[in-house]
Amino acid sequence: MEQEEPKISEGLKGVYITKSSICKVDGEKGKLYFRGYSIESLAKNSTYEEVCYLLLYGKLPTRSELDDFTYKLREERDLPKETLRLIKKLAEKTDPNDLTRTAISSLSVLDKETTDNSKEANIQRSIKLISKTASIVGAISRYRTRKRYVKPDMNMTHAQNILYMISGKRPLDKASKLMDTMLILHAEHSTNASTFATLVTASTLAGIYSAVTAGVSALKGPLHGGADEAALEMMKEIGDPNNTEKFIEDELSKKERVMGFGHRVYKTYDPRARILKEYLENLQNDSNDEVKKLTQIAMRAEKLMVEKLGASHGIWPNVDFFAGPIYTWLGIPHEIFDPIFAASRMVGWCAHTIEYLDNNVLFRPLEEYIGKEDLEYIPINNRV
Ligand code: ACO
Repeated sequence: MEQEEPKISEGLKGVYITKSSICKVDGEKGKLYFRGYSIESLAKNSTYEEVCYLLLYGKLPTRSELDDFTYKLREERDLPKETLRLIKKLAEKTDPNDLTRTAISSLSVLDKETTDNSKEANIQRSIKLISKTASIVGAISRYRTRKRYVKPDMNMTHAQNILYMISGKRPLDKASKLMDTMLILHAEHSTNASTFATLVTASTLAGIYSAVTAGVSALKGPLHGGADEAALEMMKEIGDPNNTEKFIEDELSKKERVMGFGHRVYKTYDPRARILKEYLENLQNDSNDEVKKLTQIAMRAEKLMVEKLGASHGIWPNVDFFAGPIYTWLGIPHEIFDPIFAASRMVGWCAHTIEYLDNNVLFRPLEEYIGKEDLEYIPINNRV
């Protein structure tokens, strides 16, 4: 009897790997829910701290639960001196994404108790990881340009504190609110490449630090978290808004990918990109010339791409497209975009790890072997 050809799903396209109640991405309707709440309602009404609680505990907190959780997050902001020293030593000559990964990994080495893989222990570690990753980003941002380290401020919100640690100045309320929204929009997104990498590692019972370190590693690439930086680079290369259409047409005729467009799941407008587009439009009266120009380029590029590839090819703007001009408005250097993404997404990776461990199954997919078999071993001196 002839053996059946194995069915291969390249890139696991269309394959379900588990059940989850954390996040629903409806790629047809362009909807996104965290624990049942729409991203639009969370972006409008919630805070990053509350969204972290929601993702980790599965419900919105009461006032006292939120106060307690916020207090714990703030208490964890200081970095171990070894991590800070590591960042100081390497920041000027190391890629900020690589250093973010290494610094997060160092937290594991410095944690005295890493063997307890219980839900309670992992929630405490998640709080530590969410809080300290933000401080790691602040430290990298300062040290890479030889600026003095700005200690975290325990009285600020999570969003305010990140901006403060990056700039050294107390941010305006409008900037803090916008940063808070950016953190919420990036907090979670089901089983994307980085979350899947996290789960694969968690499934070996390697522990939550190893799991999220795998997540940060996977986030770095331009097909995933690195796309916002790549999209901004493209906008800068376009330079003059009047060059936009020709630039995009040329890229498409060369079969190049336009960064910040397309998504494995969304075959319509990414709802996060829609929210960011509106934010960016509303910033115009309050922007410098650089952001105004970037915005014009972004809007013209989006219009053309939607006309050419939207409905016909299902290639629409994703969350990364409008993020670059917004981070620029916030004064965040482009090298820090991906580390900021890691800081936002840390909660999503942690929530998935905790959920998956409740019903853990080791990931071990198969591959179809197409190489040779039973070759004769030739001693090295007889080989030609
Ligand atoms: N620009 C131009 N063409 C595109 C784009 C794009 N951004 N994205 C996909 N396509 C085209 C491909 O060239 C391909 O065309 P072909 O069939 O003629 O060869 C077709 O659409 C399908 O592309 P795939 O890569 O097979 O589709 P997939 O679902 O795997 O792609 C991905 C998803 C990797 C995100 C892709 O759209 C892409 O590379 N986008 C640019 C990078 C990006 O913005 N990444 C961020 C994603 S959101 C996030 O991770 C936070």
